Amino acid sequence: MAMYMSNDPDYLSCKKQECKKYDKGKCVVRTCSGTLTFHVINIRTDIEFLLFGGGFGTPCVLSRSGPISFANPKKPLYGHISSVDSTGTSMRLTWVSGDKEPQQVQYKDGKTKLSEVTTFSRDNMCTSDLPSPAKDFGWHDPGFIHSAVMTELKPSSTFWYRYGSDSAGWSEQIQFRTPPAGGSDELKFVAYGDMGKAPRDPSVEHYIQPGSLSVINAIADEVNSNNIDSVFHIGDISYATGFLVGWDFFLHQISHVASRVSYMTAIGNHERDYISSGSVYITPDSGGECGVPYETYFPMPTPAKDKPWYSIDQGSIHFTVISTEHNWSPNSEQYQWMTKDMASVDRSRTPWLIFTGHRPMYSSANAFMNVDDKFVREVEPLLLANKVDLVFFGHIHNYERTCSIYQQECKAMPTKDRNGIDTYDHSNYSAPVHAVIGMAGFSLDKFTNDVPANKWSLSRISEYGYLRAHATKKEIKLEFVNSNTKKVGDSFRIIKR
Ligand SMILES: [Fe+2]
Repeated sequence: MAMYMSNDPDYLSCKKQECKKYDKGKCVVRTCSGTLTFHVINIRTDIEFLLFGGGFGTPCVLSRSGPISFANPKKPLYGHISSVDSTGTSMRLTWVSGDKEPQQVQYKDGKTKLSEVTTFSRDNMCTSDLPSPAKDFGWHDPGFIHSAVMTELKPSSTFWYRYGSDSAGWSEQIQFRTPPAGGSDELKFVAYGDMGKAPRDPSVEHYIQPGSLSVINAIADEVNSNNIDSVFHIGDISYATGFLVGWDFFLHQISHVASRVSYMTAIGNHERDYISSGSVYITPDSGGECGVPYETYFPMPTPAKDKPWYSIDQGSIHFTVISTEHNWSPNSEQYQWMTKDMASVDRSRTPWLIFTGHRPMYSSANAFMNVDDKFVREVEPLLLANKVDLVFFGHIHNYERTCSIYQQECKAMPTKDRNGIDTYDHSNYSAPVHAVIGMAGFSLDKFTNDVPANKWSLSRISEYGYLRAHATKKEIKLEFVNSNTKKVGDSFRIIKR
């Protein structure tokens, strides 16, 4: 990170003068000084401040601070929780520390669990003919990633935990909430894609996502007001993209939310894609990470390493979470899995089926670039066959909602309820409703007005925000919330009588 000295308004006008050398009582060398304040997080390794002139084009170092160490590089940090199954009674806690010795989570009335410790090395990163920041100039030692599953909890209940060890230190006591058990009635959650990170000071930084702070702050308010049970972040998580310290920044940024409610994720192109690495799309978008840091920081209940798909029930909803970055063709393992998973949902227990992944099937913003026709052709029939109610995707950086759609055609239109809210009646099911929700941080994609909006597109909003949902067995109510104004920009309901 870097900051301009002009951020101190008194610097260029030389308001704070100091005499460095006197000759016969007269000042002969006078300096001007300025002050900058950096928001620094504990990244375990030493940091150094450099003062340089010449701008970013031709930097010339004028002075350096020498290495500065963190008081406790082993400090356990950035704890975040996620569901391991659909019972709401077990939660995984994952955290970061410079300490490789197993640590503990202490929770409930004196229960403890020892952490499993893992990490990844430079050798785990990918390379190709293109430069790979992850392996080369973007590498940063991740320290150790600790993970432990708290069991014997009760669903929809509040508990506390702390994590660490006597030698490495302890986190604060953190209060968290378990999600409702699968098959129970109610669930309140938020969902979004493409969040990333931004500095909490005026630094100029590599690859920031300008809306991310506004969105995570608004979601923290929801958590503080006990408004949500869980979060789904569907790909393009930190945008570290090979500059690995970005993961620490991101984990720090979300920790107020992710340490207190279940934070579930899906993988995106910026976590996984790389040349000759087995991703469906041959782009350098992960900067050589190839999904390794993502999987280590966000262990989801997936079948195996580099198979980042899973399903989970929370309340009245079954979530089928796929990777659009791994093979989804009909002969693939993932396709077989999602076919079986969706067919096996007991709709009397979880009446709602939500399908989610990163890349969309429908977007009217630069759709020719952003929608893969092959993906739509091969996977969309499964959604209809299994009566999927709702589909969330990200990747496009805005919000868009469709009619009940299949193969580009509206199979049904919602009707207005007595409050004027678009209502889809799925007791008389026709096709899934799709929503693009990639508006959580990355610079927004605009909708072009010179092309008439496709008639399947019922709401188009290019603002930062998130999707807020409240489900019972009879109804899901969904709202797009603008994170700056907290105003609801779109709302719709899906009902089953
Ligand atoms: Fe993406």
